[in-house]
Amino acid sequence: MIPIAKPWIGEDEKREVEKVLDSGMLAYGDWVKRFEKEFAEYIGVKHALSTTNGTQALILALEAIGVKGKDVIVPSFTFIASATSIIRAGGKPIFVDVDERTFNIDPDDVRRKITPNTKAIMPVHLYGQAANMDEIMEIAEEHGLFVIEDAAQAHGSEWNGKKVGGIGHIAGFSFYPTKNMTTGEGGMVTTNDDELAERVRMLRNHGQTERYMHEELGWNFRMTNIAAAIGLVQLRKLDMANEIRRQNARYYDEVLGEKVMIPYVDERARHVYHQYTIRVRNRDALIESFKKEGIGFGIYYPMGNHKQPIMKKLGYTANLPVTDMLCKEVISIPVHPLLKGEDRDKVAEIVLGSVN
Ligand SMILES: Cc1ncc(COP(=O)(O)O)c(C=O)c1O
Repeated sequence: MIPIAKPWIGEDEKREVEKVLDSGMLAYGDWVKRFEKEFAEYIGVKHALSTTNGTQALILALEAIGVKGKDVIVPSFTFIASATSIIRAGGKPIFVDVDERTFNIDPDDVRRKITPNTKAIMPVHLYGQAANMDEIMEIAEEHGLFVIEDAAQAHGSEWNGKKVGGIGHIAGFSFYPTKNMTTGEGGMVTTNDDELAERVRMLRNHGQTERYMHEELGWNFRMTNIAAAIGLVQLRKLDMANEIRRQNARYYDEVLGEKVMIPYVDERARHVYHQYTIRVRNRDALIESFKKEGIGFGIYYPMGNHKQPIMKKLGYTANLPVTDMLCKEVISIPVHPLLKGEDRDKVAEIVLGSVN
């Protein structure tokens, strides 16, 4: 079996976790603080605030901004958490379409959907490629809106030489095991804004401003030292892991490029290939071949969030032709750093076989 994703965990992660266990300090503590400091340095932001997963990171970011009763513009072609985090924070997701080539938020559709009730835009750096942050930041500035980056799939990804997570006003990362780096479950909020950082810090810890003084309705979204110990080691390996993903992607580009719709990379973006996603017209046949040969694949996503039953029930629908089309055509193939050369060959051979 060639899996679609595999976390790159080695002896260093085990040793660091053992140190935490030996210390007896299992919950929030020194490892978490160190992880936050190093992650902030890596992204190039003033503040990195860890949390329990990527969904909570987005909820905290949105609550810190304050979106209650307000519209937040978000692509539909993304994981459900991009939209549900908005609703959980009291806001309304306004779904927009994506650019057919990059799979990322379409700035023209954002412009069309801005109203006096719009508070923020949430670009998603889908599959590891940065959204068009030049245009998104320009639109936000024009209309006085906040930009929350959903960077759950894009650790180390760049736009114009700048790391995502440090371009908008605030951002959320996920450290789920399939991601480019992991802590088991985990997440991180990043921002350069002192006030937003302070609000996230307070909200993630029971709305506490000083010991046993609770000013706001908060949560317990604190990361553990155990998770942070894994994260510290993973962060040091991230650039290497991303480089291997990029090499795997280059191989597929070369071998598949002539016959298959391979990922388009904007020249301003440094893609870190959380997923390598191609478009095919005969997806069912390719799925059958992958299943027969024991090759993992992913359909991210089979349905836009604007068509999900819960969104329909809540009345958040939209007409998004590009999203609907991509949902029928995309398929992601293994690109993770533990993929062997012969695995890549086999995956490519099956893809080519299915288009011939
Ligand atoms: C685009 C996107 N947003 C948000 C999330 C939520 O992250 P988590 O699974 O860590 O809660 C994910 C992860 O699956 C994601 O891919």
